[in-house]
Amino acid sequence: MITAIGVDIVEVARIRHLMERYGSKFVSRVLGHEEMALLRTRRDAAQFVAGRFAAKEALIKAFGTYLTDRPAFPQIEILADGAGRPSVACRFPLSPALASVQMLVSISHEKSHAVAMAILSEEE
Ligand SMILES: CC(C)(COP(=O)(O)OP(=O)(O)OC[C@H]1O[C@@H](n2cnc3c(N)ncnc32)[C@H](O)[C@@H]1OP(=O)(O)O)[C@@H](O)C(=O)NCCC(=O)NCCS
Repeated sequence: MITAIGVDIVEVARIRHLMERYGSKFVSRVLGHEEMALLRTRRDAAQFVAGRFAAKEALIKAFGTYLTDRPAFPQIEILADGAGRPSVACRFPLSPALASVQMLVSISHEKSHAVAMAILSEEE
């Protein structure tokens, strides 16, 4: 049963500007350690970071009914399985309510924007 959804859109140029201006300081505020390793494999770093940024905002929207404190972005990692499909890894203590929740994320990007959708579901 789907219990929550979230969606977010991010302008890639805004992320590119922040990366050029603040470099790794900005990136480390968005990505966790494993995502940093993934980033090094990507051709367009700003597009990748924009996608992760959108996915985390989308998840935080979906978390609304489950969490009172907003996790820091690096505490939510969006990793990739062998086929490139995103998977969510939470690096913050999960409340009992969230522990049994399945978290799904989908990301898409064009040159100008990245968009992401998050779905939370629970067994009925
Ligand atoms: C997934 C795929 C459709 C991407 O399409 P695209 O229009 O080139 O790119 P988009 O910008 O819309 O999406 C890219 C995002 O899709 C996601 N993605 C990649 N592979 C995926 C997959 N297998 N399943 C779901 N999502 C995937 C990633 O999050 C990626 O962004 P990221 O690399 O920054 O994490 C394309 O790479 C593909 O066809 N992959 C193979 C899918 C597959 O094996 N399907 C099984 C049979 S149907």
